[in-house]
Amino acid sequence: MATSDPSQFSAESYFATQPPPSTLEQDIAGVRTFVAQQRELGKKVVLVTSGGTTVPLELNVVRFLDNFSAGTRGATSAEYFLKAGYAVLFMHRQFSLQPFSRHYSHSTNPFLDLLEIEPPAVATDPLNITVTPSKRPELLEVLTSYKEAHQSGLLHTLTFVTVNDYLWLLRAVSQELSVLGRGVLYYLAAAVSDFFLPRQKLSEHKIQSGKGSLLIEMDQVPKILKPMVDEWTPDGYIVSFKLETDPALLIPKARAAIERYGHQIVIGNDLHTRKYEVVFVSRVPGSPDVHDISNSWLRIDPHAIDDRGHPKEIEEDIVAELVSRHQAWIDATSGGT
Ligand code: PMT
Repeated sequence: MATSDPSQFSAESYFATQPPPSTLEQDIAGVRTFVAQQRELGKKVVLVTSGGTTVPLELNVVRFLDNFSAGTRGATSAEYFLKAGYAVLFMHRQFSLQPFSRHYSHSTNPFLDLLEIEPPAVATDPLNITVTPSKRPELLEVLTSYKEAHQSGLLHTLTFVTVNDYLWLLRAVSQELSVLGRGVLYYLAAAVSDFFLPRQKLSEHKIQSGKGSLLIEMDQVPKILKPMVDEWTPDGYIVSFKLETDPALLIPKARAAIERYGHQIVIGNDLHTRKYEVVFVSRVPGSPDVHDISNSWLRIDPHAIDDRGHPKEIEEDIVAELVSRHQAWIDATSGGT
């Protein structure tokens, strides 16, 4: 049973006391079909988690805690994984950015601005809608990739809202994917809350004002990387992200995560520079010393343009590096089979 002592919430006690989301079984049935299809096609699969998790303060939710993540890292990376030939399971916060449609987000590139109203050839006919000529080439490129991804069945999406939804889904999805063994890459880019209010402590109705200040004591969310690595998907290639706002903490924290959880890579990023530089922290391959950990920085010029003439996205290089490391790891651990 949960207590206010944060150390009491192991992953096991968390799942024993917190209820699963109502859509879990249906979501997992869809994942099972997707996994069977990719298995038949012999595809490598990546699970991309993306966006922020909420922490409800009431059972009938009026208020909740949230975080800054828009889901840019996850949505952008998913596109590059598809391009690299992976099948993508995209697990994202409801209404956060998604692959392909992210190019036309309502704030940066509203889709209504792509359209023109044309008078009909015959005055009695209805008005026509056309795409603004200057916007056509890019729209055609994005639309083609979008249609291909959906028609081929290589992109499957799942949504979460709360940290509880996220944890239950992550556990169940990892267990389903584990049948694919080393061919699965886990790319954990979601911004997961470290604190939550257990169901047993939630007020049923809207918290009332009038009694002065509001004090809330939250429990710590159990660290799920440990059971993920040890139990849920022991053969997977697991890449987690570490976010800090104090640059001095980034590498020490990332190294500590590798030592504690024993997964393959932590990608460290600073809130303010995350679009231009990240650091890959991982054990030195082949070294017998588990504390032998290396860092390598990946940086792009903030003004760089990619070979299609668009602003360069760091996710292109992150994904290229991971695709190559994943294959090298498969080769090293299975003799290339
Ligand atoms: O979406 P964008 O706006 O593009 O932003 C992208 C990003 C900055 C959110 C992304 O690049 C990123 O850093 N995501 C991870 C954010 C995060 O949760 O960092 P953290 O330092 O709080 O967590 C560190 C690690 O602990 C994570 O690898 C996480 O998987 C793990 N963890 C977290 C919570 C939890 N309950 N258990 C865990 O094991």
